[in-house]
Amino acid sequence: MSNKEILLETTGLSVNFPVKKAMPWQKSQYVQAVTDVSIQIHKGETFGLVGESGCGKSTFANASLGIQKPMDGQVFFKGEDINNISANRMKELRKDMQKIFQNPAASLNPRFTILDLIAEPLVIRGGYTAQERKDLVINMLNKVGLSEADLYRYPTDFSGGQQQRIAIARALILNPEYLVCDEPVSALDVSVHAQILNLLMDLQKQMGTTYLFISHNLAVVKKICDRLAIMYLGKVVEYGDADKIFANPRHPYTKALISAVLDIDVDSKKERITLKGDISSPIDPPAGCRFCKRCPMAVADCETVESPLVEIEPEHFVACRYVR
Ligand SMILES: Nc1ncnc2c1ncn2[C@@H]1O[C@H](COP(=O)(O)OP(=O)(O)OP(=O)(O)O)[C@@H](O)[C@H]1O
Ligand SMILES: [Mg+2]
Repeated sequence: MSNKEILLETTGLSVNFPVKKAMPWQKSQYVQAVTDVSIQIHKGETFGLVGESGCGKSTFANASLGIQKPMDGQVFFKGEDINNISANRMKELRKDMQKIFQNPAASLNPRFTILDLIAEPLVIRGGYTAQERKDLVINMLNKVGLSEADLYRYPTDFSGGQQQRIAIARALILNPEYLVCDEPVSALDVSVHAQILNLLMDLQKQMGTTYLFISHNLAVVKKICDRLAIMYLGKVVEYGDADKIFANPRHPYTKALISAVLDIDVDSKKERITLKGDISSPIDPPAGCRFCKRCPMAVADCETVESPLVEIEPEHFVACRYVR
């Protein structure tokens, strides 16, 4: 649950990627993957990051971990500007910031035993005897629903769901404060989705970890997230308390996304909103609202006039000039 103490904060965070030029004399162009994102993630909460493919979710997550350097803006982790501290201090902070990936098989070295894989962060950190490492690994294996008998097996001996359990054990072995879960179940068989999500929620209760939870699946986000941000083409369009956003979505893009989820809700009388129009390019997005080309409410100046996030009710922010 959220307790309002801020663990991670971004201010005006922007990340651009240069586009390879076909000819040397061509003008330099950039993919504006993340633009001017200012959000706060509270200690102990599950913060959801939602939006369609390519909208900048993973880029934001990587910048929040210090893996991706921003072009502009800051990332504060426990109040420290992570792009403005010594390499040694960053190394210390890094043990508190971990990530689990979409595809566990690709993130686990097939030549390592389960013991070696899960103990590796302890080896890198140093200060543990081999026996201490083994005991900590066994304790962690039990927490993720595996056992001591699995210590000397290899990742390829396990199913996708079990491999994700191993990846979770490895990410949590140092008891990090912040865990990025980037689409943690989307590569797994549907039958194990609920198991892995329940495991993540149980571990959060036991360990108090703060999650940045990235997902395409709004039904899952609705179930597990305390607060969330909805991104469109690199910008946040709606942000705040998850219950308030689901109960009263205000940005036209959020409304369309949520109407697609409500479709499967048999009690819902609401119509599904189908978006029309071209998706703007992240290389040369409109200066104003990036959703304007698909927005059913757009007027002429939406393309040119900025729409900053405005608090329309406590803990609920919307970036649309026509929603107040
Ligand atoms: N290393 C890179 N070099 C160049 N462009 C990149 C790089 N990484 C991401 N991009 C571009 O930045 C934009 C955002 O990508 P990102 O991977 O953050 O999206 P995403 O929301 O995580 O998408 P998905 O849901 O498909 O994982 C995309 O247009 C992508 O093509
Ligand atoms: Mg991604």
